[in-house]
Amino acid sequence: MKIEQHLRISVGDGYDVYIGSGILENCGRFISELFPQRNCMIISESNVAPLYLEKVRTSCEDAGLTVSSFVFPAGEEQKTLETFGSILNALADAHLTRKDFVIALGGGVCGDMTGFAAGCYMRGIPFVQIPTTVLSMVDSSVGGKCAVDLPQGKNLAGVFHQPSLVLCDMDTLETLSPEVFADGCAEAIKTGILDGKELYELLQEGPEDGRLAQIIGRCIAYKGGVVERDEKEQSERKLLNLGHTAGHAIEKCSNFAISHGSAVAIGTAMMARAADALSFSTEPLSEDVESLLKDYRLPVTTDFEPEELLEAALTDKKRSGKLITIIMPEAIGHCVMREVTREQLLEIFTAGWR
Ligand SMILES: NC(=O)c1ccc[n+]([C@@H]2O[C@H](COP(=O)([O-])OP(=O)(O)OC[C@H]3O[C@@H](n4cnc5c(N)ncnc54)[C@H](O)[C@@H]3O)[C@@H](O)[C@H]2O)c1
Ligand SMILES: [Zn+2]
Repeated sequence: MKIEQHLRISVGDGYDVYIGSGILENCGRFISELFPQRNCMIISESNVAPLYLEKVRTSCEDAGLTVSSFVFPAGEEQKTLETFGSILNALADAHLTRKDFVIALGGGVCGDMTGFAAGCYMRGIPFVQIPTTVLSMVDSSVGGKCAVDLPQGKNLAGVFHQPSLVLCDMDTLETLSPEVFADGCAEAIKTGILDGKELYELLQEGPEDGRLAQIIGRCIAYKGGVVERDEKEQSERKLLNLGHTAGHAIEKCSNFAISHGSAVAIGTAMMARAADALSFSTEPLSEDVESLLKDYRLPVTTDFEPEELLEAALTDKKRSGKLITIIMPEAIGHCVMREVTREQLLEIFTAGWR
């Protein structure tokens, strides 16, 4: 096992994040230190479980934990109240008590839903995140937002429930499809624009030669800092939505055929172009941002017209009253929240559209 990074996130009771390789085979050691001799349930999904569940189970059992497991069918379309209910039933059937805990083994879908179930079961039991996608490592496993989708929209039912431990094993990323890998990189690039030159330049150098673990560590450190200052998204945490107003609109217009990461990439490129065109940026951004996104095989343009995107964006849950909060990049490492009217949002979408 090689631990490349160790971070501490100081939200609630605080929790450790470990990034490295060979962690799955040794996860029981980390986990049993927190929860010695307890019962736990590993929750995973049908793509990830055949690859990694036994490794996690064996390591946990070797460390003295009593382990059961529950596997649901993979995919965003499974992130529902039905699957959530079946996880709760499995926890109850296994007689887990408030002293016990849950392990989420999978991407963001598994982590979000498992965290929600852990947050609700017996009014909340602890959970451990073992994210297995770039997106879930850099974004969803840290911060405690847990939810399922409703037919009316994504992530509409959920809780804030922070994990007790996050274990990122870089080895798991080797089995990702190139598309899913790229999706997560879109969120990392978004984070690079928010965080500043150090992460941005690391991203420009590329994920090869061991830099991916550094990129992931830097993204988690940035997000962790934001969440420490604003856990419940009253203000600063909203910055993490850079590229997401247009991104969500693109996802919606495509009927979710365009993945979240691809949509965020296009949304981020749109905001960079709009910032340049409308002179919000204090340094030229769009050429650089576009070329970085393209280096990671991400799209930067959309066929959906600005008016269509506006309509889709206005039905989004982030709209409060008449003003819409958008995140405008002004420079690498400096993005600001802006409250805009419907007309201003159309102007921004039009200026950034390509
Ligand atoms: N909670 C948050 O703060 C937050 C932030 C961003 C996104 N999200 C949520 O995260 C979800 C997206 O996460 P995601 O992109 O990880 O999706 P995902 O969990 O669906 O994983 C993507 C695909 O990769 C497969 N997969 C996962 N790990 C694998 C591995 N190691 N090897 C091979 N295949 C693997 C999955 O089965 C799935 O088909 C969305 O539901 C989104 O709403 C949450
Ligand atoms: Zn996102």
